[in-house]
Amino acid sequence: MAITNGLDPKQLPKHVGIIMDGNGRWAKKRGLPRVAGHKEGAKTVKMIVRTSGELGIQVLSLYAFSTENWQRPQEEVRYLMGLLTEYLISELDELMAEDVKIKAIGDLNALPGRVLKILENAMEKTAYNKGLTLNLALSYGGRDELIRSTRKIALEIKSTNLTCEEINEALIRAYLDTKDQPDPDLIIRTSGEMRLSNFLLFQGAYAELWFTNTLWPDFTKDEYLKALLEYSKRTRRFGKA
Ligand code: IPE
Ligand code: IPE
Ligand code: MG
Repeated sequence: MAITNGLDPKQLPKHVGIIMDGNGRWAKKRGLPRVAGHKEGAKTVKMIVRTSGELGIQVLSLYAFSTENWQRPQEEVRYLMGLLTEYLISELDELMAEDVKIKAIGDLNALPGRVLKILENAMEKTAYNKGLTLNLALSYGGRDELIRSTRKIALEIKSTNLTCEEINEALIRAYLDTKDQPDPDLIIRTSGEMRLSNFLLFQGAYAELWFTNTLWPDFTKDEYLKALLEYSKRTRRFGKA
C-alpha cells in the first residue's frame, strides 16, 4: 500500500459516493462522440475502485446511471449498458483478486435482461468477498428509491402485523437499497456541477460534499487523494454545538 500521501487511515471516510460527471464534455472538447467520453471514463472507474480498495475504504458508491438518464438518446443508453456489462465481465477476475464485493443500488428491474443477468452473476460471485463494497448506482434515483421503499413498507403493513407507529428512521433505512451500509461520509462530484442530481438523497443528509472542475475521464488518483485529505480535515458536527 504505497499510497498514503499524508492521509491518516483513521480519518478516511467509511463510505465515499462519487457522481462521475463530465464524460460528454470531455469528448466534445476533443471533437469526439459522447460515448468516447464514457469509454475513457471507464478507465477512471477502474483506477478509483483499485485505489479505494487499497486504502481500505469500506464502501464506494459510483453513480453510473440515473433514473433520469433513461431520457438520453437510445444509442447512448445502449452504449452505457454495453460498457457496464463489459466492465463486469472483463474486470471480474481482478475484482475477485482485490476482494471487492459488487452490489447494485437502484431500480434494477428497469435494466435490460442481459445486463441484469451479468450483474447478478458478478454480485453472486463476489458476495463473500471481504474488501471494498462497490455499490454501482444503476437506474438509481434517490426519489425513486424512497418511492420503492415506501411501497414495500406499505405492503408490509397491509400484509403483516407491522403498524404505522413502528415506522421510524431505522425501519426506513432497512428498506433502502443501501440497507446495512453506513451513510456516505463524502460525496465527490466532478465536472464543475454543484448539485446532487438525485444521488443518495436520504443517506447523504450529512455527507461532506467535494466538487472539482475536472471532467471524470481526467480525474486522477492524486486528485482523489486530495479530496480524501481535505475530507479528513473537515469538522463534522451533525447539528451539534
Ligand atoms: C457522466 O457524464 C456519465 C453519465 C451520466 C452516465 P455525462 O454523460 O453526464 O457527461 P456531461 O455531463 O454531458 O459532460
Ligand atoms: C448525474 O449526472 C448522473 C450520473 C453521473 C450517472 P447527469 O449528467 O445525469 O446530471 P445532470 O443532468 O447534470 O444534473
Ligand atoms: Mg452530466
